Amino acid sequence: MKWDDSFSVGVQEIDSQHKKLVEMLGSLISEMKKGQGRIVIGKTIEEMMNYAKVHFATEEKYMTLYNYPNSTSHKKEHEKFIESAKNFYENYMKGNLTAVELMNFLRNWLLEHILDSDKNLGKFVCEVSLCKQ
Ligand SMILES: [Fe+2]
Ligand SMILES: [Fe+2]
Repeated sequence: MKWDDSFSVGVQEIDSQHKKLVEMLGSLISEMKKGQGRIVIGKTIEEMMNYAKVHFATEEKYMTLYNYPNSTSHKKEHEKFIESAKNFYENYMKGNLTAVELMNFLRNWLLEHILDSDKNLGKFVCEVSLCKQ
């Protein structure tokens, strides 16, 4: 899993956090390929979930700062993700899910959310402020 410039939403701070999330996903995939167990993989997932919370707070800061009209639904997507990720994580740790299933959930959610909701937010922020890119 590698960063691609087509993921860019145009806001530097958000892009650099997305890069870090994509990187963390890459670490997760390589740990899986190495056949690491639940303790190692679980720790990486936990770190990713914690960083996702920091990242969501950053995006929500922009929403508040610029009065983003879609902030309610966007914030709801973040909340739902945290809830689902927690469920996936717990099920994975209990052995009810494979690492591949968990990774697919994280990857699909992250990419779909960046390419749709986050791009919309980025476009809005760049319209109402001066984006440096
Ligand atoms: Fe977002
Ligand atoms: Fe994001």
